[in-house]
Amino acid sequence: KKVVLAYSGGLDTSVILKWIKKHYDCEVVTLTADLGQGEELDGIEGKALETGATKAFVEDLREEFVRDYIFPAFRANAIYEGRYLLGTSIARPLIAKRMVEIANMEDAQALAHGATGKGNDQVRFELAAMGLDPRLKTIAPWREWDLKSRSDLMAFAEENGIPIPVSRKKPWSIDANLLHVSFEGGELEDPWNEPGPDCYRLVQPVEKTPDEPEVITIDFESGDPVAINSVKHSPAALLQKLNELGGKHGIGRVDMVENRFVGMKSRGVYETPGGTILHAAHRDLEGLTMDREVMHLRDGLIPKYAEMIYYGYWFSPERESLQAMIDKTQERVTGTVRLKLFKGNVIPLGRKSPYSMYNPELATFEEDAVYDQADADGFIKLVGLRLKGRMRQNKWGGRD
Ligand code: ARG
Ligand code: SIN
Repeated sequence: KKVVLAYSGGLDTSVILKWIKKHYDCEVVTLTADLGQGEELDGIEGKALETGATKAFVEDLREEFVRDYIFPAFRANAIYEGRYLLGTSIARPLIAKRMVEIANMEDAQALAHGATGKGNDQVRFELAAMGLDPRLKTIAPWREWDLKSRSDLMAFAEENGIPIPVSRKKPWSIDANLLHVSFEGGELEDPWNEPGPDCYRLVQPVEKTPDEPEVITIDFESGDPVAINSVKHSPAALLQKLNELGGKHGIGRVDMVENRFVGMKSRGVYETPGGTILHAAHRDLEGLTMDREVMHLRDGLIPKYAEMIYYGYWFSPERESLQAMIDKTQERVTGTVRLKLFKGNVIPLGRKSPYSMYNPELATFEEDAVYDQADADGFIKLVGLRLKGRMRQNKWGGRD
């Protein structure tokens, strides 16, 4: 019997590794995905093996993460409840996909994760796994064991020789990757409490940002960013660079109370510096290049699309169908946006595109040869007919 465990190297997943081995009397293979979380990966393979894993995969999935998950979502301007750029939600399906592949390679029968029974992540892991390989079972120790508290966990760790990190012990839950860092729990559980200095990692508080603005350009090809200041970068390198720029200028912090899929409201603080710049830049280029009706139709679908990602339906027929439509809308979202970064703001300064639909002759307030202002007279009469009709129906006015 073999299980593939999503392993972060932290206390929780270390305890889970040991617990699964004991409780299910099986082998555990771990996957630690490098999604750009940084230092946390040092020495993780040894740690997994020491804690009892038969095999420990540590894989750099950064390019795939940005190219095949983040960029498709940003083509859609995906945003949940108007603010959350889905930094954690979008990472789960990739981790699950890699776990499924490893399970098949290693002949494992089940996947295990360290998400609690109260959150969204459990749903995302398991829906993704179900959507990819329905044969695999899932093990979610937080829903199964009788370790009820932090101190139960510590006691288990101590009994089983799992080192308890002292300095890194945090009162809340943090999830970091190339798109964002999220903070939940602890002092944040009171929605009236202001996030403390520990809730800042990628983004400078605006009080400390440079007093000089910084102007950058971003080039897009078919909805995806490809270059900053005319220098081409791979997807992961590009996002990393935007994170540095955004972080320096205090861009991309969100503090919100959101609706979890499992039903409760929860308070989250997010830092999404690069993503926030990208979102603004992409939106701006669409203004220049996208047909009005296509844009309005797509805009109506953003909440729906974001909900699919938030709820964990990445590998689903509805998300894939919508993605095909969205990708179609992006074919000509190619061009360059010039932006000013300053004190937490992303300020568009200019945009250009070989596919620009902006016609200066049409738009000008000066004299032109292509637009007959008299045409607008009949246009307004016709589009307003029904409004007059309603007044007549109400027996009010009704004079033509
Ligand atoms: N509330 C956010 C979401 O559902 C962030 C979740 C953070 N997850 C974590 N394991 N720390 O996407
Ligand atoms: C968790 O419950 O594991 C984290 C929070 C969430 O998934 O929403």
